Amino acid sequence: MVNLDGRVVLVTGASRGIGAASARAFAKAGALVGVMARNRSAVDDLAAEIGGFAFSGDIARAGDMEDAVAKVCHRFGRLDVLVNNAGVIGPIAGLAEADVDDWGQAIDVNLKGVFHGMRAALPVMRAQGGGTILAVGSGAAHNPQQGWSAYCASKAGAWMLTRALDHEARGDGIRAISLSPGTVATDMQDSIRRSGVNPVSQLDWSVHIPPEWPARALVWLCGPDGDEFLGAEVSLRDETIRRRVGLAA
Ligand SMILES: NC(=O)c1ccc[n+]([C@@H]2O[C@H](COP(=O)([O-])OP(=O)(O)OC[C@H]3O[C@@H](n4cnc5c(N)ncnc54)[C@H](OP(=O)(O)O)[C@@H]3O)[C@@H](O)[C@H]2O)c1
Repeated sequence: MVNLDGRVVLVTGASRGIGAASARAFAKAGALVGVMARNRSAVDDLAAEIGGFAFSGDIARAGDMEDAVAKVCHRFGRLDVLVNNAGVIGPIAGLAEADVDDWGQAIDVNLKGVFHGMRAALPVMRAQGGGTILAVGSGAAHNPQQGWSAYCASKAGAWMLTRALDHEARGDGIRAISLSPGTVATDMQDSIRRSGVNPVSQLDWSVHIPPEWPARALVWLCGPDGDEFLGAEVSLRDETIRRRVGLAA
């Protein structure tokens, strides 16, 4: 188990799903954890549970991410890990039918939100000599799915942001890694199932992994084993990776 005693971590999209499980996993590893999402009461409850601190905010707004990073630094004097986890699946619609504003909102959250997080964290991490910026990626970045043009395009862009960050900032001690979790049993996957639109929606619920698995993988990537994946995307579908993280196959 990676020891993150005293490390300061900020997790976006921590009101439920993978983000909430990650916040718990980072706290268990000893980190001081900031949790952010739009649902204030959910992040307040989680912060109380794990002894962390909560911020309500919208990652689609650059100022909200700047505020969250500034508040973490004000309180703890540093930021060691940013987990760019928050994301949305919708709009689930064909290219010709998708609502223009909804489509743009997915880009604002899944792509620009990740940029906003990186942009806010980078100066702090550079000044302190380094840090880790993780993204929760998706196989959808590499393979189109019916009705998911906004999700696939935004995740493809976010994957390139991880590569760009690694390219620009590895020399400053910035560790940029993307984790592609496979399918995970969360509210997002439930929305996909209810849409009935493509093969992912038809999957039996039992094939989805629990959110605790990507959570543990994200913690693992903050340890020395993560160093071989800088600028890369780690797939949790890979049995070798699962074993290295310590997950049941
Ligand atoms: N579940 C899967 O199978 C799967 C597979 C591959 C990748 N992923 C990725 O994993 C990440 C987490 O997904 P999940 O399955 O845990 O989804 P989820 O259960 O729907 O949770 C999404 C989280 O993101 C937050 N969020 C959404 N929009 C936000 C915004 N504008 N600003 C701040 N927070 C926002 C939500 O909180 P609020 O609504 O309170 O803001 C919530 O905490 C996403 O990036 C997703 O694309 C999931």
